[in-house]
Amino acid sequence: MQCCSLKDKTAIVTGASRGIGRAIALRLADMGANLVLNYRSSIQGTEDIIKEIEEKGVKAIAVQADISKFEEAEKLVKAAVDTFKSIDILVNNAGITKDGLLLRMKEEDFDSVINVNLKGAFNTIKHVSGIMLKQRSGKIINISSVVGITGNAGQLNYAAAKAGILGLTKSAARELGSRGITVNAVAPGFIQTDMTEVLSDKVKENIKGTIPLKTLGSPEDVANLVGFLASDMAAYITGQVINVDGGMVMQ
Ligand code: NAI
Repeated sequence: MQCCSLKDKTAIVTGASRGIGRAIALRLADMGANLVLNYRSSIQGTEDIIKEIEEKGVKAIAVQADISKFEEAEKLVKAAVDTFKSIDILVNNAGITKDGLLLRMKEEDFDSVINVNLKGAFNTIKHVSGIMLKQRSGKIINISSVVGITGNAGQLNYAAAKAGILGLTKSAARELGSRGITVNAVAPGFIQTDMTEVLSDKVKENIKGTIPLKTLGSPEDVANLVGFLASDMAAYITGQVINVDGGMVMQ
């Protein structure tokens, strides 16, 4: 067996219809995993990825679920087990932004970002962990953000959720480690996706100036790290936060 093969493994990726989630799904498929692609509303994008994944010789299904809702996360995990029998990898990627300065931030903007970006990860981990505990193996990878480490003006809700992900990751790693389950967080910097497309060229140029590698990252840059963490190459790594940010934040 190759060192990084995920052959016959099953991976759930939340928010897999575009951006970083899409790139992660394709990377895991390249490594041989069967995929459960979660989407919230757009089956269209997800159907295209299924085709692309199946061309790689692995299987994929799409499951609609709003991961901020506990019962829908349960439905997602149940669909995965019904189809593939086991779940070896969970990637909590789904996320939203509702940016605004504190004085203008509405209560519902705070709640919705926490509910998707933080509670959503709890919901999926809660339902997947029982299966992984029985298997005595599993890899959980949570997508955080560098702003969860540094904070960011105008993103109080988002930064709080992403910081919460770090505490959740480390606590789950401590609880689940004795049963062979690793839990890690990935903290991307500025990655070129629909989420950052809304920024003006001027803002993007300013951001580039703060990045030692002087360029924005690609979804594939994040997917490469997730692929590594999902493989046995990362068997002895748990409870860690690893940045993919061109050197923007150095701890
Ligand atoms: P994106 O907006 O392109 O994709 C997010 C995906 O999550 C979409 O497919 C969306 O439908 C899905 N989603 C949103 N709410 C959902 C829900 N309730 N249930 C199920 N799916 C839901 O964003 P992007 O850039 O691909 O981000 C992916 C992850 O990476 C997010 O967690 C984001 O916070 C994080 N991230 C992104 C950075 C960037 O610069 N693009 C930087 C740091 C972190």
